[in-house]
Formats: sequence, structure tokens, C-alpha cells
Amino acid sequence: MESYESRVYWKQSLYGRNFLIWHGSEPELIVTDVDMIKEILNNKEGAYVQRKFGGPSLDLFGSGLPFSEGQKWSKLRKVADYAFHGQSLKEMIPAMIGSAEAMLKTWKSYEGKEIEVYEQFKTSGEIESGKLREALRDSIMLMLKKREDNVKTGQAESYGGDFLGSLLKAHHDADVKTRISADDIIDECKTFYFAAHETTTNLLSWSVLLLVSHPEWQEKARQEVVELYGQETPKTESISRLHIVGMILSETLRLYSPVIYLVRTAARNTRLGGLTIPAGLGLYVPPLFVHNSCELWGDDAHLFKPERFAEGMAKATRDQLMSYLAFGFGPRKCVGNNFATTEAKITLAMILQRYKFTLSPNYIHSPTVVLNLQPKHGVQVILSPL
Ligand code: HEM
Repeated sequence: MESYESRVYWKQSLYGRNFLIWHGSEPELIVTDVDMIKEILNNKEGAYVQRKFGGPSLDLFGSGLPFSEGQKWSKLRKVADYAFHGQSLKEMIPAMIGSAEAMLKTWKSYEGKEIEVYEQFKTSGEIESGKLREALRDSIMLMLKKREDNVKTGQAESYGGDFLGSLLKAHHDADVKTRISADDIIDECKTFYFAAHETTTNLLSWSVLLLVSHPEWQEKARQEVVELYGQETPKTESISRLHIVGMILSETLRLYSPVIYLVRTAARNTRLGGLTIPAGLGLYVPPLFVHNSCELWGDDAHLFKPERFAEGMAKATRDQLMSYLAFGFGPRKCVGNNFATTEAKITLAMILQRYKFTLSPNYIHSPTVVLNLQPKHGVQVILSPL
């Protein structure tokens, strides 16, 4: 990869673990020391804030959860944690399966031929994000309605003491000025679709590439899927039993982390490790660099070895969880982590049930960064029906 990784590797060999680079007139501190990374991302003293975007980026990302701070962040985070975990996540699984089924229907015309999967995942994701948005909306609305009904029928005295409860109270506020609409709650999720769509498309594309380059893992994964489901549609309750598929996805994210920098700004003058950090300095943590460190991951750090994750993340990282940064670390760790892995597991499992795939001679390896790490020329594979 031309611009990003070579730059970090080259500079690190010259200047050590942490070094300053200039982005035009803006200084940026690249941090690859894991203890310092832990301190920045845990942010116990509140010294680091999210980078502020302006101009077109603001329109693109919105000003939702990833870019909010303080009380606003903690309120939105609670809703998001609720929306993307547990029962709400389970309720979205049928929409994920439906979307994979729709995509695989179109794959029929590629049987025995070359298919470019990056474009396929991207397009199906675009349709799907609409469907998932609806499923997410329905799931939150259902929860709100249940609580309203319980209050109406006298089964409960209040809407609940948690954040959803307080949103409901605000929704029923007698004062129009402070009342919020149900749509306000759901609209807060809008920035998620950008985060969700691009990153998951990249994860799926890189995992297909790694499975064509490691046919033994493609076969192991297929065996697991067939043992669990045969030719049946995956079942909501047993997605978590796709253990080998999960290991493959974790290893894919280690080698091809879609998010290439975790960025913070120093909110005030502060100390970090032995360094004095002036207010306003941008701090850049590069997950790919950390994931490729032989010191942290062993001499085989550069190799695709999903077996690292056989006994979970703590074992794989030798109890240094901040060595795995694909979903970030600390309080601002990705809220869609389970959502993304569930969706990717379902999609991969349904592909493996139907097809064997090998690399097309037209594939050109060129990871590139366009916001996320993506395959510049796509991922071309030959699709053989089973
Ligand atoms: C493979 C897929 C994904 C990857 C690799 C990924 C990666 C990340 C990373 C590295 C962060 C931390 C950024 C930081 O510390 O600055 C993050 C945060 C976030 N992600 Fe994801 N993400 C993925 C999928 C998703 C999905 C599916 C959703 C929503 C459904 C989502 C929503 C978010 C949100 C809202 C945040 C901000 C959390 C906060 O600031 O509290 N992501 N993601």
C-alpha cells in the first residue's frame, strides 16, 4: 500500500515508536506505543476529544454519536448500545438474511464465471441499509410502544428509569418546546449507516480474498456451516456458533482493518508517556501498524492465521486487548461491532453453502485508502456452484 503503511513503517524505523508528521501546516503525532494508545483511547482524564469535521465531511458524516462529546455522547451511546445489542440485534437478523438471499439470487447469473465481489457487497449493502434502517426503526418503535402500553394499562407507573424511559418522558412532555418526536430518536442513528455500510463491505471483500488465497480455511469454514445448517437458512439462535467463520473475520480485520486511523485531538495541554502534548495537537493511532507488529503478535504477524483467535481475543492478544484495534478500544469502541460481525457471518455462511470460489487471474492486489481501506480494483473471483 503506497501512501499510508509505507509512510508509517518508514518513519517509524527512522524516528521510533511515536513521531510527528506535518499535514500541511497541521502537526500530527503518530502513536504506535500500546501503553500510550491505551491511555489515549481510555481517556480517563478527559484530555482527548474526537476530531471535529467541517465542510463536506460534516455533511457526509452528520454530527451524531461518533462526533459528539460529553452528555450528548453518553445519552446517544446508551440508545445505540440498546439498538445494536441483545434482542434488538436478534430482531434485525431476518433482514440481514433476506438481504444476503436477495444478493445471492443475482449471483446465479455469474455461476462458473468471474464475479467482482466488492461491487456486489456495496450494491447489496445500499439496498440493505434501507431495509435495516426500517428494521431498526421498527425495533425501537416496538420497545417504545410496549412501554407506553404498560403505562396506559397501569402495569407500570413510569416509562422506565433508563435513557429510553427519559426519551419517552420527553416525547410525552406537555411543553411543546421540550417535547421530542419519535423520529428525533431514530434520526440520531443516521450517521451509523455510513459507518456500517462501507466498513462491512470492505470486511466482506477482504475476507473473500483471504479465503481464495487460503483454500484450506475456505474448506474448514464451509464444513462448519454445512455441519450447522446443511442447505438450510442460518438460524438466529445459532449464529454465534459459527466459530471458525468468526475467527476468519477477526483475522481479516487484523490484516485489513477498514479504519486506518483512530484520531483524537488534545483538548488541553497534557502529558502522555514522557511527552508534553500541547492543546489542539492531533493524535493518530494506526490499527494496521499495531496489528502487524511482530513484538505484539509474534514473528508470523504478517500471515493469515485465524487459529490465533481459536481461544478468544484475550488469548490472541496475550491479554493486551489494545493490540487489536479493528473496532477501536475503550469507551468509544465501535457500537456496531456485534452488528457487523453478525451480518458478515451470515453473508459469508450463505455464500459458502452455495459456492466454492477461486482467485480470478484478473485480480490486481492494490489496497487503497478512500476513507476506509478498500481494494482499489475490486476483488474478482471465479464462482463455482457446489
Ligand atoms: C467491519 C465493520 C466495522 C468496523 C471495522 C468498525 C470500526 C470502528 C472503529 C475502529 C471505531 C472507533 C473509532 C474511534 O475510536 O475513533 C468505530 C466506532 C463506531 N462505529 Fe464502527 N465499525 C464497523 C461497523 C459498524 C457498524 C455496523 C455500525 C453501526 C451499526 C458502526 C457504528 C459505529 C459508531 C456509531 C461508532 C462511534 C462510537 C462512539 O463514538 O461512541 N460501526 N467503528
